[in-house]
Amino acid sequence: MNEPRAVYQTLINWLVERDLYPAAVTTDDIGASQWRRADALARLAGPGPHTVLELGAGGGYTAAALAERGHAVTAVEWIAEAASSIRLWTDTVRSGSLRAIEGDFYELPLEERFDVVCYFDGFGIGNDGDQRRLLRRIAGWLEPDGCALIDVMTPWYWAAQAGREDEYDGIRGRFEFDGDGCALRYHQWPPDREDEAVMQVIRCYSPADLRLLLEGTGLRLAGLESYESERYARSVPLAKAMIYLAKLVPAS
Ligand SMILES: C[S@@+](CC[C@H](N)C(=O)[O-])C[C@H]1O[C@@H](n2cnc3c(N)ncnc32)[C@H](O)[C@@H]1O
Repeated sequence: MNEPRAVYQTLINWLVERDLYPAAVTTDDIGASQWRRADALARLAGPGPHTVLELGAGGGYTAAALAERGHAVTAVEWIAEAASSIRLWTDTVRSGSLRAIEGDFYELPLEERFDVVCYFDGFGIGNDGDQRRLLRRIAGWLEPDGCALIDVMTPWYWAAQAGREDEYDGIRGRFEFDGDGCALRYHQWPPDREDEAVMQVIRCYSPADLRLLLEGTGLRLAGLESYESERYARSVPLAKAMIYLAKLVPAS
């Protein structure tokens, strides 16, 4: 199974099954990598406070870190359990503000504009047409002097991971790379249930390819930071990076 919404729903079902989905949160639950994302936003967009739209916000941990830094955050997530989890943060954060919107960011009737639109660890689902459609929506959500901060997976890192297996939150995983489509294929399954495996397909882009993708979307690549992993623990040269955080600004 690899329809994106069904894949993310299944991944959450597996957590719920094993009682690993949080029923309550405290700010101590915000991890180092979420604070590092908030630091990256301050470096690339300025300290703010900003109005921030976070796409594909998962359980809201990064949104909570951003609110704690004083930003007014709107977090979008289409999986009901994850959106409920984001709502738990709404009364927990001690500064800024946090609002959860449950919905598909391709469909959302959201008329507001934001200083920053961010998407951590999710960009690349679907084909190039899907990415362009999303980038055009992002351009429409940005204030004229705003910026988007988007995690982008590098092809060279993920091509070298083909065949590697891992385990995360008790879920087994195997990485493959589609060289023709330049996409990571990540298969995941609960131990001993490989027949139930789901697959995420994430398109990977070099900055040169991202510039081509951005043509006609109303956005241009204005800078980037490259990291060893999605946790942002170590900055590394782009050629050694798993991921880079692209800063996109209005094209004109
Ligand atoms: C890999 S997870 C990353 C979650 C979070 N950004 C983080 O870094 O912890 C990608 C998230 O994006 C959400 N997502 C993907 N496509 C979406 C869409 N079209 N609309 C809303 N949420 C979406 C998924 O449900 C999932 O929670």
